[in-house]
Amino acid sequence: MSIDYSEKIPNNVNLASNKTLQRALEHWQPEFLHWWADMGPEGTSDVDVYLRTAISVEPKGWAHFDYVKMPDYRWGIFLAPAEAGRRVNFGAHKGEPAWQEVPGEYRANLRRLIVTQGDTEPASVEQQRHLGLTCPSLYDLRNLFQVNVEEGRHLWAMVYLLHAHFGRDGREEAEALLERRSGDADNPRILGAFNEKTPDWLSFFMFTFFTDRDGKYQLCSLAESGFDPLARTCRFMLTEEAHHMFVGESGVGRVIQRTCETMVANRTDDPARLRALGVIDLATIQRYLNFHFSVTMDLFGSDVSSNAATFYTTGLKGRFDETKIADDHILAGATYPVLEVRDGRLATVAAPALNALNEKLRDDYVKDAQAGIERWNKIIEKAGIAVRLKAPHKAFNRKIGPLSTVRVDPDGNVVAEADWTHHHLQWLPSTADRAFVASLMGRVAEPGKFANWIAPPARGINNQPIAFDYVRFN
Ligand SMILES: [Fe+2]
Ligand SMILES: [Fe+2]
Repeated sequence: MSIDYSEKIPNNVNLASNKTLQRALEHWQPEFLHWWADMGPEGTSDVDVYLRTAISVEPKGWAHFDYVKMPDYRWGIFLAPAEAGRRVNFGAHKGEPAWQEVPGEYRANLRRLIVTQGDTEPASVEQQRHLGLTCPSLYDLRNLFQVNVEEGRHLWAMVYLLHAHFGRDGREEAEALLERRSGDADNPRILGAFNEKTPDWLSFFMFTFFTDRDGKYQLCSLAESGFDPLARTCRFMLTEEAHHMFVGESGVGRVIQRTCETMVANRTDDPARLRALGVIDLATIQRYLNFHFSVTMDLFGSDVSSNAATFYTTGLKGRFDETKIADDHILAGATYPVLEVRDGRLATVAAPALNALNEKLRDDYVKDAQAGIERWNKIIEKAGIAVRLKAPHKAFNRKIGPLSTVRVDPDGNVVAEADWTHHHLQWLPSTADRAFVASLMGRVAEPGKFANWIAPPARGINNQPIAFDYVRFN
């Protein structure tokens, strides 16, 4: 499964053997580059960045590191190797050979799944496009740019499927993916969280920790798809996604570490003093966490959803770790607990498991996110500080589904509108919090130097020193 870099579009799908497809994608390529020039990282066309590029799709040793100007990054089409004899592993078609072509009757649903996933990829690049101007270090700047080029490649991954398997509709959808804009009033991105701003680096790290992790869970369920090309492309995307979550987890971890060091050195936990010392107090970090967690909760969709049941039954989208789950993989008659609002309180009720698949995926995600939050808490504990960060209740600050009809505090208590109005600034970042974090954002672009509000990382990228010249300005 080596990647052919001699082609205009690097690929491991033998694109040269399908001239019509190759021509269609070569037609889309300049449009993608226009979009990148317009909406990609601001002011970076002439900057050399120490980036990794995929050279193979094998789990070990796929990456090559070197300086690249971002517009010259070799975006391409990389599918994980085919699994011999792979079958549909769930739903009504369980046991049939996995599909290499789109089953006609599922075409519209499959296209919708691919477009929805594809839309998130350019959206996050748009959300992050100004962050380079306020980077806390060259190391962080490089990581931002790595995430950005890989989200661009994820767009390629979905556009390949649209072009290869959906004919004219697919080509039109591929164009529309370059036309929507994050946060645009007239033509926004499809999902809410991808129209939010990512105005500062704490938001960026929270986004890559929480929202890219949603990406992981969506990709994991699509990697179980009975439609084999989708499964294979998602499996390779997941190897890239792991780095994005690392950027988020280590980024927030380093912010916490710097705050804790400052708390200990100055023997204070007073937010105002800590802010005066130029670090982000833990209460503000908790509010950012609450915001990004709750916005990401909504990305999983309605708690009870007939679409989710259809996607599963028809073999299009599985569960997280589908083949490792010990049940019948059909789920007729099975139930799953979901939350409902009853008499003004939250109540757990048993829903048909098929309809509760969004909730199941959300719960799998929450476990994973909580484990990461516990790793952050270890940093605080090590510093001898008693504060602990906590994931808010999954019903907190929801905008989608039945839970959006009530106000729920971070501990999961339904509260009156007046209580919410009174307290929500303790729970979610206020304008003043955001203004304070924004005030810390300056540009640190000297090798080995870091902004005051963030600790240096434990090690550099690809065994390079921390003070390596990760980005060169020309
Ligand atoms: Fe992505
Ligand atoms: Fe990502």
